[in-house]
Amino acid sequence: MNILILGSGGREHTFAWKLAQSPKLSKLFVAPGNAGTSQIAENVAIAGNDFEAIKTFVLDNQIQMVVVGPEDPLVKGVHDFFLNDDELKDTILIGPEKHAATLEGSKEFAKEFMMRHAIPTAAYQSFTSDNLEDGYRFLESLKPPYVLKADGLAAGKGVLILQDLAEAKNELKAMLVEAKFGDASTTVVIEEFLDGIELSCFVLTDGDDYLILPEAKDYKRIGEGDTGLNTGGMGAISPVPFADEEFMRKVEERIVKPTVEGLKKDSTPYQGFIFIGLIKVNGEPKVIEYNVRMGDPETEVVLPRIKNDLVEVFQAVGTKTLKDVTLEIDERAAVTVMSVSGGYPEAYEKGKEIVGLNTVEDSMVFHAGTTEKEGKVVTNGGRVIAITSYGNTIEAALKTSYDNMGSICFEGMYYRKDIGFDL
Ligand code: AMP
Ligand code: GLY
Repeated sequence: MNILILGSGGREHTFAWKLAQSPKLSKLFVAPGNAGTSQIAENVAIAGNDFEAIKTFVLDNQIQMVVVGPEDPLVKGVHDFFLNDDELKDTILIGPEKHAATLEGSKEFAKEFMMRHAIPTAAYQSFTSDNLEDGYRFLESLKPPYVLKADGLAAGKGVLILQDLAEAKNELKAMLVEAKFGDASTTVVIEEFLDGIELSCFVLTDGDDYLILPEAKDYKRIGEGDTGLNTGGMGAISPVPFADEEFMRKVEERIVKPTVEGLKKDSTPYQGFIFIGLIKVNGEPKVIEYNVRMGDPETEVVLPRIKNDLVEVFQAVGTKTLKDVTLEIDERAAVTVMSVSGGYPEAYEKGKEIVGLNTVEDSMVFHAGTTEKEGKVVTNGGRVIAITSYGNTIEAALKTSYDNMGSICFEGMYYRKDIGFDL
């Protein structure tokens, strides 16, 4: 079958790498893709939210499956667009419909979902500019640190964690009254602070059944020792040593099952990935957030640990026969280390030549933000190249990734040298 992947990051390169291994694949396209995906698939210059252009391409190229990488097309309703079109409705689309995508698109919607289905999460209340004073009073009733979340999508920047009550009140006002995050902060969720260690659980569901993929932990801060600004993710590891069997059993019983059942009870069809951001507090799992897609760079360690033919697994999602699929997981650890442009996550330059990519040995190179220019691979984003390695231990896998990271280079290149430091 012919398959189209939407997106252009390391996650999408990893999807392309995995799908390309399937004997069921005929032609693979990535829109818009990057310099890495162009080596194993055909890049197509279409943006993920240009639904009409996607339709034309799908029909012209007999695409039978579309895999959506980022949340944006899902939140904008790409799945609904396919279902509502007679010519597209039989295409398998991996990614939920718009209503379900609100689990990521609105923190308040996600919190209400968790409350309705008794899924463990931080206590919260939500506020708008109409009840700012109530928001102040709610903050006064809490102990620091204070957690303020813009309800809508804010490019990963919409969560503030503040130590000082006066500062928290100021920020609440800035979000609600001064539109600090634009429309995204018209509503603000204020949450109880949870003190624990974070990890991510990935579920693939056809709406009836589900598979739990290998768990992962990513490293979001730019600086070593988890310091500095938040990024999209500077590295990831899988498996997560502190997610032992007992803990993962609790995650499945208390979180994964009620989530999939809750979607059914709410009559919300769901075909695709659910990325559950978890925190382990005194041994107990609680949900920090839902995303309606895979994580990046978590995909770069999760997919390499899955031995199944991913085309077959996605077909089972499309035909609602996921109950017949058993995942085979590679026992080895997988880690990824992300190199980024100098200055990221703040302003950075693009177009820097990347050298040494051909010298990488015993690791997989996943392009995150690259493009081709005059026959050269150049930087084209904040996150640039992820190097994924297997190992019998996380330490061994990290050593391989770091050895290889040392052999690639571009002007301003930076990467964290302490991925896994806290395990
Ligand atoms: P979110 O966008 O909801 O994933 O939040 C971004 C980050 O803020 C999370 O990855 C956590 O590190 C932190 N965070 C969010 N909610 C809480 C909470 N209730 N308690 C402690 N930390 C939180
Ligand atoms: N690495 C976090 C995310 O994909 O949201």
